[in-house]
Amino acid sequence: MYYKIIIILIFIYGNVIFAQSNSNTVQYLQEILIDSFINIANYDFPTDAKHFKATKEPIEEYGTYDFIIIGAGISGSVIANRLSEIQQWRILLIEAGIFSDDDLMKIPSVFPLKIFSDYNWGFRTVPQKNACLSVTNHACLVPRGKGVGGTTLINSLQYSRANPENYNQWARILHDSSWSYKNILKYFKKSENFHWTNTKAPVDLKYHGKEGLLHVQHKVPDHPLNDLFIEANKQLGYDITDYNSETQIGGSIIQLFTNNGTREDMGTIFITPFLDRPNLKVLTQSYVTKIEIDKETKTAKSVLFTNNGKTYRARANIEVILSAGAISSPQILMLSGVGPKKHLQDLEIDLIEDLEVGSSLKEHTLLSHLWFMSNLSIPTETINQQLSDFLKGYGSLTSANTQAQGLGFYNVNNKTSTVPNVAIFLDYSEISVIEQQFFGLDEETFESLKKIGSHPIRFLLIHLNPKSEGTIRLKNKSPFEYPLIDPMLLSDSSGKDLKAMYNGIQQIFKLSQTPAFKKINLKFDNVPLPTCKNIQFNSQEYWYCYLKQLTMTGYHPMGTCPMGINTSTGAVVDSNLKVFGIKKLRVADASVFPTPIAGYPSMTCLMIGEKISDIIKEEYL
Ligand SMILES: Cc1cc2nc3c(=O)[nH]c(=O)nc-3n(C[C@H](O)[C@H](O)[C@H](O)COP(=O)(O)OP(=O)(O)OC[C@H]3O[C@@H](n4cnc5c(N)ncnc54)[C@H](O)[C@@H]3O)c2cc1C
Ligand SMILES: *[C@@H]1O[C@H](CO)[C@@H](O)[C@H](O)[C@H]1NC(C)=O
Ligand SMILES: *[C@@H]1O[C@H](CO)[C@@H](O)[C@H](O)[C@H]1NC(C)=O
Ligand SMILES: *[C@@H]1O[C@H](CO)[C@@H](O)[C@H](O)[C@H]1NC(C)=O
Ligand SMILES: *[C@@H]1O[C@H](CO)[C@@H](O)[C@H](O)[C@H]1NC(C)=O
Repeated sequence: MYYKIIIILIFIYGNVIFAQSNSNTVQYLQEILIDSFINIANYDFPTDAKHFKATKEPIEEYGTYDFIIIGAGISGSVIANRLSEIQQWRILLIEAGIFSDDDLMKIPSVFPLKIFSDYNWGFRTVPQKNACLSVTNHACLVPRGKGVGGTTLINSLQYSRANPENYNQWARILHDSSWSYKNILKYFKKSENFHWTNTKAPVDLKYHGKEGLLHVQHKVPDHPLNDLFIEANKQLGYDITDYNSETQIGGSIIQLFTNNGTREDMGTIFITPFLDRPNLKVLTQSYVTKIEIDKETKTAKSVLFTNNGKTYRARANIEVILSAGAISSPQILMLSGVGPKKHLQDLEIDLIEDLEVGSSLKEHTLLSHLWFMSNLSIPTETINQQLSDFLKGYGSLTSANTQAQGLGFYNVNNKTSTVPNVAIFLDYSEISVIEQQFFGLDEETFESLKKIGSHPIRFLLIHLNPKSEGTIRLKNKSPFEYPLIDPMLLSDSSGKDLKAMYNGIQQIFKLSQTPAFKKINLKFDNVPLPTCKNIQFNSQEYWYCYLKQLTMTGYHPMGTCPMGINTSTGAVVDSNLKVFGIKKLRVADASVFPTPIAGYPSMTCLMIGEKISDIIKEEYL
């Protein structure tokens, strides 16, 4: 994935120019790229949030607002935008990070570099037993964005909804047809500004919006693997589809959250242009420690946060909306006394409502290390050329985490199902040191993966329908500790998750053996993984071993405060996202997904933001 970046680095170090330069020039971008590499070399991920601690007492009053929104991620940014359309409502949006002022971040393909920066909280999982075994301490990285825009500041920009059936299932679980696909499609279209179509995998414009704020681009750098991937899918009998239409299964070309080749995060889209609204106050570098809930009336009253060494209290007239993401929203709820009774009692936190907060963490699992050799040789461009193309809106730097843009959705357990359970995509790259750091790979595995033969091509596999379920718990009662994140990857007692990943690997082999890929002499790299080398190569047992070593977090935590109809089955919020048992408090972000989705989460978080804004307007206007 990051092979190109290493080439860039080597090139740059031979050409350092120390003159002052203007932004938006090749020279300027080169310079900030060098700085970024220098920083990575010395970068340590933070392990707690103690720098947010207040040093001064007492609590200062910050005033009263109608709505207080916690977290300027996707959902939070959309909600702040939509609610501040109503002039008489005063909105306070509180965000721990800053407004992004990083020009490098605008280049889609350098996103892995920003994992090593203040724009990432830098969480990790607790040691995993059935996955992440090739990662140092078996603790996978859990990158989460920090700043206005949330995780869209550092994500890989793939624009994907989910399968219509996912939302229909939600509607059935919730006994609320307003969540059905038919009824939420308008929210996807409302925000979207679809441009730049691609002829390799046509898009069905019936399902896309043209008037929204969010640019979506489908004209991607042309890579020889794109054609081969599409051809391979046809040869296996799959349709070539628009995976964001109703027909998701088949081969496709990635749609990206970019505007003319440049990253657009959700803060840039939904917040920055609206800062002149007098009723919208956006507070950055402000860390929420607690929602104050009246114990008698069980009503959310105010929000405590720290900023620059002081603690403040902001009061909410109408509601508090928690949008701090699937890791931090359950953390804040538990710190506020809403969570599993026993856990809160163990930590001596005053219990206000006993709910299964953080008890159903779901995570897509990712295998990014299935390597093939080929005879496909692509000349490397100079960094000057790449940056210069980027500034014109095209070229290899305008794609996100892979150079090739083929993406397929399949159900590898059930040929006749229309709901995929895996996503497969591919890349043309060697493994790099940056990537070792990005995944936290241990030395032995890294050394072994580096030995892959010529012109390596890798396939990446995401399991979209995991049965395994984990938890978010507090380490102690301090809001400045990071929460304990245990996704329990590949732990389901039925073994279904391992089996689905294994079936996914078989699907990759089928694709790799099509005449399309024969043209570039694609061959699996037969070097066994050191830890699994005593197991018969290519047996199911071998792949189970391999999967446990190299399956990692898919960066899509969800379901930690799920919607539902009954708290006795673990629901934390109702279908209007109101926290059960507490008045004036909602959760709106990836925490509320009642089931995992067969897609990437950003668009669903955005849809949730749009939908809840409409619900709130209906309720109070
Ligand atoms: C490396 C990576 C690649 C990804 N690639 C894709 C992709 O290609 N496509 C896709 O759709 N999805 C992708 N995702 C996932 C997607 O970006 C997230 O699922 C989505 O952004 C979650 O949105 P959210 O609103 O739930 O939370 P977030 O976007 O995480 O926002 C939460 C916000 O709350 C703030 N916050 C948290 N705690 C506090 C506190 N105590 N006080 C104040 N503020 C706080 C955070 O700083 C953050 O800004 C990727 C994620 C990662 C990490
Ligand atoms: C993309 O940006 C370049 C450079 O600013 C500009 O020349 C081009 O017209 C833009 N294309 C579109 C479709 O906006
Ligand atoms: C496969 O999917 C089809 C279509 O949804 C469904 O009818 C069938 O029951 C599924 N089979 C299995 C074994 O789950
Ligand atoms: C790659 O291998 C294929 C299959 O063996 C062969 O037909 C093709 O000519 C080779 N291409 C190059 C560039 O060597
Ligand atoms: C919730 O579940 C409990 C226990 O199963 C049941 O007694 C109760 O009636 C349910 N409530 C609703 C609203 O369905």
